[in-house]
Amino acid sequence: MNLTNSAVDISLFSFPITREDIFGNRNPLVLEIGFGEGEFLIDAAQCDRSRNYLGLEIKGGRFRKAVRAAEKLSLENLRFVHVEAEIALRQVFREKMFDLVLVNFPDPWPKKKHSKHRMFNREFIGCLAKVLMGSGRAVIKTDQLSYIKQIVSEFERSGLFRPAYPSPGFIEARTGETETKFEKHFREASQKIFSAIFLNLP
Ligand SMILES: C[S@@+](CC[C@H](N)C(=O)[O-])C[C@H]1O[C@@H](n2cnc3c(N)ncnc32)[C@H](O)[C@@H]1O
Repeated sequence: MNLTNSAVDISLFSFPITREDIFGNRNPLVLEIGFGEGEFLIDAAQCDRSRNYLGLEIKGGRFRKAVRAAEKLSLENLRFVHVEAEIALRQVFREKMFDLVLVNFPDPWPKKKHSKHRMFNREFIGCLAKVLMGSGRAVIKTDQLSYIKQIVSEFERSGLFRPAYPSPGFIEARTGETETKFEKHFREASQKIFSAIFLNLP
């Protein structure tokens, strides 16, 4: 594999894929699910070369945009995969492979009849627990109050994680970190942003 190429073709590997397969080292590994146009990962990978960053994105146009932006920088600690996240967590990656999983602004599906499409259900949380290390964390941000409440209750019900923040299990997130495209949009519209951290139980 060409290590300066930021797009990983998982069909070239035998499963389960390890962090050494992708990065050629065992440095701490951060996963972002649904990276959109990749600005968060590109910034994080540039700022912290001691960690590896892997992103999963289902939409081809966004995936290609991120790859094009990253390619100019030749970051050896950043890779993108064009794949559906739950399939990847279930079938592609080695257990306990990630130190940290980030989901920035998962699709909210605000209409009741569409809520079955939301990413955070029991099966998905089970997959997260499997791929996270024992001391690993999942960090989630959303602008939807009803969704963050549902996410906290799904994680608690799973028995696989505990919320890092006291009740109600999330906080209103302040600015200061790298903002994703969606985060910029919501902040410019003066919308509140909520953040939750879940600790994987050993
Ligand atoms: C609301 S956008 C947020 C994008 C980016 N994280 C941001 O904050 O700007 C949600 C992203 O998650 C991606 N996505 C949704 N479901 C996914 C799945 N099952 N697997 C991988 N990506 C997914 C969408 O294609 C979209 O790019």
